[in-house]
Amino acid sequence: MYQPAITGHGVFTPEQIITNDELVEAFNAYADLWNADHAPQIEAGEVEPIGHSSSEFILSASGIENRYVLDKDGVLDPTRMFPRLRARSDDEPGQMAEMALDACTKALTMAGRDASEVDLVICAASNHERAYPAIAVEIQNLLGAGGFAFDMNVACSSATFGIQAAADMVRSGSVRCAIVVNPEICSAHLEWRDRDCHFIFGDVATAVVIERDADAKGDHFKICGTSCATKFSNNIRNNNGFLRRTRDQMEDRRDMQFMQNGRKVFKEVLPMVSAHILSHMQAEGWQADDLKRLWLHQANKTMNDFIGKKVLGRVPEPGEQPNILQDYANTSSAGSIIAFSKYSHDLQKGDKGVICSFGAGYSVGSVLIEKA
Ligand code: COA
Repeated sequence: MYQPAITGHGVFTPEQIITNDELVEAFNAYADLWNADHAPQIEAGEVEPIGHSSSEFILSASGIENRYVLDKDGVLDPTRMFPRLRARSDDEPGQMAEMALDACTKALTMAGRDASEVDLVICAASNHERAYPAIAVEIQNLLGAGGFAFDMNVACSSATFGIQAAADMVRSGSVRCAIVVNPEICSAHLEWRDRDCHFIFGDVATAVVIERDADAKGDHFKICGTSCATKFSNNIRNNNGFLRRTRDQMEDRRDMQFMQNGRKVFKEVLPMVSAHILSHMQAEGWQADDLKRLWLHQANKTMNDFIGKKVLGRVPEPGEQPNILQDYANTSSAGSIIAFSKYSHDLQKGDKGVICSFGAGYSVGSVLIEKA
């Protein structure tokens, strides 16, 4: 058995930002257009008018201030409310592979590894732009990596589930150097016309390099333990799939995009996540006081405040549990890895932390790490 370690990490951040104010202005213009179009039905009491959104609500309900997206104009066009992402030919790199490549290159540079030394690529994300060939195999090809590659999807928990799979293979010796990459184009599965959730998501890609601790060339974190759990729930769901994909259905099927019962998610996932982290720590013989940092899934600030308090048994000090959701919004599986990538450089030898992602399934994955 070999000791697995995270030896590199990287984040691809799109160039375009949408602020809450810009988003709300576009949404309200869309709502006004829709209400005007449906004035007779609204007057007859047959349909409800769409209410205005507000930046104040978004900030207080979620903690989100901005989000990065691949295409701002399409999202903010009140007659469209959907990104314009050029359909690519089969001979061009796909959109997901392209952003993944950027994050992987940064992670490999940090690890001091050439792509040819990689023998496993896992593309772990909550949506994949096609069924097959696997996006991961395309990334492997673009990188010039060896070995094998596959896609996996555990929604917002994809990154930690991917890390568990890669770490187990490094531990057993079946692979020597793995990349887990999370290209998340959330803007294309969000319904930007739905007031209840239009503010939630942003786009990003993250990557981590996992290899033997003994092979590490620079600063790295030992993976001390991984733990994953799932429990079926319909409260976060996206029904898009090949059985349902006809043009007619696409026009009127709201459930072909991200759907959630946010209040229930809040209530049901919170206890599941804090209990999961605590029992994982207990299994590894870790105490709350051992934790220098929590890098949590980035969906909601109140949710993270609650989990941090429950796990540490006190209100976390500033910096102990860094959030990035104010800048990135919810980036599905990538959120906890962005937080880790941006807020782990200052940790010292022996410092311990937990990366935890959670979401649809329900699913929760935790990775206990220690600075080597
Ligand atoms: N602007 C203004 N008001 C809005 C609004 C908007 N964009 N969206 C909803 N509201 C209103 C609602 O109409 C409701 O008003 P009412 O009380 O008069 O009926 C009120 O705000 C509360 O709405 P609700 O949807 O219950 O808000 P919330 O406090 O639960 O916050 C979420 C919504 C989505 C931010 C929150 O539930 C959440 O983060 N849940 C967990 C999300 C999560 O982790 N999901 C995983 C995804 S991967």
